Amino acid sequence: PRSGMGNDDGIREDLGSLHGMPLYKSFVAGWPQVEAFEAREDDLLISTYPKSGTTWLSEILDMIYQDGDVEKCRRDAIFNRVPFLEMNAPKIPSGVELLEKTPSPRLVKTHLPVQLLPTSFWDKKCKVIYMARNPKDVVISYYYFYQMAKMHPDPGTLAEFLEAFMAGKVAYGSWYEHVRGWWEKKHEKQLLYLFYEDMKKDPRQEVQKILRFLGKEVAEGTVEKILHHTSFQEMKKNPAANYETMPTVLMDHKLSPFLRKGISGDWKNHFTVAQNERFDQHYQELMAGSDLCFQMEA
Ligand code: PPS
Repeated sequence: PRSGMGNDDGIREDLGSLHGMPLYKSFVAGWPQVEAFEAREDDLLISTYPKSGTTWLSEILDMIYQDGDVEKCRRDAIFNRVPFLEMNAPKIPSGVELLEKTPSPRLVKTHLPVQLLPTSFWDKKCKVIYMARNPKDVVISYYYFYQMAKMHPDPGTLAEFLEAFMAGKVAYGSWYEHVRGWWEKKHEKQLLYLFYEDMKKDPRQEVQKILRFLGKEVAEGTVEKILHHTSFQEMKKNPAANYETMPTVLMDHKLSPFLRKGISGDWKNHFTVAQNERFDQHYQELMAGSDLCFQMEA
């Protein structure tokens, strides 16, 4: 045990397991409340595998919900404006508790794989926006996040982390199963499946897609405001969006900032040629038979 720290603080603790999926032990402990969560029919669920653009999409949606009012979007930190459904940690309100106090219409964040989503989201026919990102950029982003966010075990070397990721032995398990599982729900009218790389290439087009999906019309100037306020540079300096207000014991931005690079293709600065070949081969095996395609760079 580290000096001054108990064993129940969740810092650099091994992951537990939720129905076979690796997950923070405190989240597993809070699972009964999540499973019994009562969605409301006007809830909008933002679903992602970690490090796929959740925070970006969340800020865009809050801006849409606030009709482009930047000041209203500074009312609180993003993790309070868009509560994290399965979040549970000692001494702070859980995601479910935060959501119970949130007035409708609520924005809800989750990283759950499709088969673990609480059934009431389906029963209430809630709209869901899923955002996927190519796995090479996800694994690099996740590697830096493991370092700065201390609820994770030590990630080891990048080579070790790559193996863990490919084997699904990281928090939230297999990226491959996650993106494929949600892709199979794509035919449902209530689900919009987006890609981080498309959002990077043409954010205006993707924001228009979201507006159509929500059946919402806004003035052209509002779209401009949304695009400006949710750009990487703006979000990086916005304390309500950049996670800086999280206690340093949980997230140390000096090790790596939460808004780190915000680009597509950063994996090229990290993968060796051999790692890339091995990753590609494994990717082909696990994605075989799927019409889901990823752009590995922008
Ligand atoms: S989490 O912890 O799972 O909710 O993280 P998530 O928000 O899904 O992913 C973090 C990565 O998204 C990048 N990001 C952005 N990219 C482009 N534009 C904007 N506005 C933006 N906001 C966040 C963030 O930088 C992380 O990616 P990396 O590659 O590490 O920079």
